[in-house]
This record gives sequence, C-alpha cells and structure tokens, in this order.
Amino acid sequence: MSFKKLITKKAEFSASHRYWNPDWDEEKNRKIFGKNTSPLGHGHNFHLEVTVEGEIDNNTGMVINLFDLKSILAAVLERYDHKYLNEDLEVFKKIIPTPENIAKQLWNDIEKELENRDTECSLYKVRLYETPDLYVDYWKS
Ligand code: NI
Repeated sequence: MSFKKLITKKAEFSASHRYWNPDWDEEKNRKIFGKNTSPLGHGHNFHLEVTVEGEIDNNTGMVINLFDLKSILAAVLERYDHKYLNEDLEVFKKIIPTPENIAKQLWNDIEKELENRDTECSLYKVRLYETPDLYVDYWKS
C-alpha cells in the first residue's frame, strides 16, 4: 500500500476580467456571456488552494519547506494581483480569462516556479474559487 503526502496552501488575490470572444460579433458575445462582456470588466477576490505532492523529508519532516511554497505563491500571484487580466497578462489576450483558464495558467506558472527552486515535490492540484460558491479544480489525472 502506498500513501500520498499532500500539503495545501491557501492564498488570495484580487483581479478583474471580461469575457469576450473576438471571433464573434457583439450580439453573439452578449448572448453567451451576458453582462460579463462589459468592456469595463468586473472584479473578484479570488481564493486559491495549491496542493503539492511529495515525500516527507527525513531531515525536515516536510513535503515542501513552507518558506519555499509561500515565496513561490507570492512570486506568481504578484503577476495577477490588482490586474485587469485581459490586458495586463499577455496570455489572456489570446484566451478568455475564465476561472478555468486562470486555474490552468496558475498551474503552469506555479509548476515553473517549483521546477526553478529545485524541490523534490510536484504540483498536484490547483483549486481556484472565483466566488465562495464557485470553484475550478485543475490537476493531473
Ligand atoms: Ni467574473
């Protein structure tokens, strides 16, 4: 029998976004996305839960050093916090910043930072709450 060792850290950031598909006309965008098409955008206080998987280090008793995990999240979320995602992040000029796509991009960013830090653990799951009653899970299955 094997056991998974997971550790989850929560974090928050505030950002605004707008739903708009440039391949569609205004009528179709309005029909699909409703008020979310407003060019002014609208904001959320996003809540993020990042889960990392690894072995418990015999020397530290930890799967990942929490200082490392905190600094990884701080480095990544600095790019998202208080930003208008559609315009301030290059990636969201090409894809719509829905919570699904934001979770996917956060995964990519966090995974890259984890690799840079030379840790033994790997990213297991990103859960992103857009509102208290709506969240997206992005993980390797
Ligand atoms: Ni929204």
